[in-house]
Amino acid sequence: MIKILSESISNKVAAGEVVERPASVVKELLENALDAGGTRIIIDVEKGGRSLIRVADNGSGMTHDDALLSLERYATSKIFNESDLFSIKTLGFRGEAVPSMASVSKFYLETNQNNHGPGTSIFVDGGKIKKVTRPGAPSGTMVTVKQLFFNVPARRKFLKTINTEMAHISDITSKIALSHPGVHFKIFHNGKVIKDWSSVSDPSNRVADVLGKNMKNSFYQVEYKEGLYSVSGWISSSADLRATSRGLYIYVNGRFVRDKTVRHALIEGYAGRLMKGEFPTAVLFITLPHGDVDVNVHPAKNEVRFFQQKAVHDLVVKGVSSTIDIAEQPKWETIDTDYAVTKYASASDPAAGYVFEPPADYNSTRDMPGQLNIETRSDFSQKEIPAKKQTTFWNKKYFSGLRIIGQLHNVYILCESDEGLVLLDQHAAHERILFEQLKKGVENSMGPAQQLLVPETLELGFMEKNILEKILPDLVKAGFDMEPFGGNSFIIKAVPVFISCADVKSVILEVVETMAETGSSSGISSKLDQFLMLIACHSAIRAKQSLAHEQMEELLNQLDGCENPSRCPHGRPTWISLSSVFFEKSFKRIV
Ligand SMILES: Nc1ncnc2c1ncn2[C@@H]1O[C@H](COP(=O)(O)OP(=O)(O)O)[C@@H](O)[C@H]1O
Ligand SMILES: [Mg+2]
Repeated sequence: MIKILSESISNKVAAGEVVERPASVVKELLENALDAGGTRIIIDVEKGGRSLIRVADNGSGMTHDDALLSLERYATSKIFNESDLFSIKTLGFRGEAVPSMASVSKFYLETNQNNHGPGTSIFVDGGKIKKVTRPGAPSGTMVTVKQLFFNVPARRKFLKTINTEMAHISDITSKIALSHPGVHFKIFHNGKVIKDWSSVSDPSNRVADVLGKNMKNSFYQVEYKEGLYSVSGWISSSADLRATSRGLYIYVNGRFVRDKTVRHALIEGYAGRLMKGEFPTAVLFITLPHGDVDVNVHPAKNEVRFFQQKAVHDLVVKGVSSTIDIAEQPKWETIDTDYAVTKYASASDPAAGYVFEPPADYNSTRDMPGQLNIETRSDFSQKEIPAKKQTTFWNKKYFSGLRIIGQLHNVYILCESDEGLVLLDQHAAHERILFEQLKKGVENSMGPAQQLLVPETLELGFMEKNILEKILPDLVKAGFDMEPFGGNSFIIKAVPVFISCADVKSVILEVVETMAETGSSSGISSKLDQFLMLIACHSAIRAKQSLAHEQMEELLNQLDGCENPSRCPHGRPTWISLSSVFFEKSFKRIV
């Protein structure tokens, strides 16, 4: 039953226009159809929604009185009092969409409640009810919005091309369809079917329909729960990245949202496997008690506020990182030794994204033996990565099992593996080792380590002091014995064992200054990570440093102990490999 909300509630419903463009009409109509329990929804669009948008559902329909009432502002059947605003289970709740759409178009509503007698048909012209009839009608509801913004020329002028508006409509329908796999969606544009997603019981089939079959096969499944909070869905491998965040589909209790907390947590969950400007593809469903999230933040209802923001953040970080850690343990054998290595990067292995091309044209380089122009390709695209799900645990001593050949240019460690040649970036690898050791120190309270002969005092600026103060307790756990020393200064008495002692003071100073300058990202844990990363970078073996055989051996041993040995903390690969077959083909031993 529809009721008009009292003024006190309606004022609380954040004000604002809901109808911005054809896609927002489609969104509101789809939400209404789903709230009404529709399981088959047909969307008809003409000229990108400029001339016609029609959404028909087989849901509950409305009684005659309710159909008339639905045209009133703040008329909704979904909430009744103020407290309901804080436990919203439906997609709609504002009672604004139907009257808003009807006021800026030629609006037709046809509805019938499960074959109980005649239905209702209403025609509204620019907000004025022009005709009401009681024809026979199938059960369910059909809303037609013609000539959108015909009476608001300024708005109509802002509409983009038919293709652009249609792309927005497809996009919003995809977003809604991903979270309603049990519902059949069919879209027509100018009379032609452009999408037809039939109802599926396995949600991953809807992901395949909407995002493509390849996506489905290369995705890792996420399933993680903590108390009443849970996160589930699919994420791409860290070799399967994009340059924009457009592949992120985040849902909170079934509602598509744009949310910084979840997005940040998702990226953090990839822990160093992503470089700046790289994004995974992900479909993530977060479920939590309705009372723990406020959905009445914005009229478009695509933003939410979490009452336990940190809990949600931690949930997503853990859900994502545990999935990735299991799925992406390195395995040499995942690097294809076929000559087709040029077109192949294992989806399971981030470092394998760097693959090698022999010269495209042998003739041009025939006169220059030894100058094979081998290129790294870091711009690998998703399409070339074969679908392959990797769930093998990493339980062998991969790195320590390699035979060390020597150092190249004092920058790379060359090793022989059963399949070919493995090159490690000594600095990146050591950075990874130090970073993980420092993090373990924080987690397990390693306690102080090497005492400095003479304690050092550190003079900081105000910003730097605040940064250091926040993360100090964690640094103490990691083995930094530091304390405030009056004003903006600190005294350093000890540092973790594996940090090189020389010039600790200036290193810490530089790290904190960099953090203040770059405006470290939110959250204490990411500040701490940033600090540890920078310290690891400063203390790690440099490139151009010559290493003794034992030092290289030690490095490989320690890399075996890392959780994520294939990437440095900033996301660069720590190793790459060239297959024997690559050499054989290059030397024309085999063709
Ligand atoms: N497709 C539909 N099927 C059944 N009822 C509908 C449908 N569309 C709208 N309604 C009814 O009209 C009311 C007003 O819709 P709307 O203006 O979108 O507000 P809201 O969805 O926020 O409640 C809804 O609460 C619902 O009762
Ligand atoms: Mg609605």
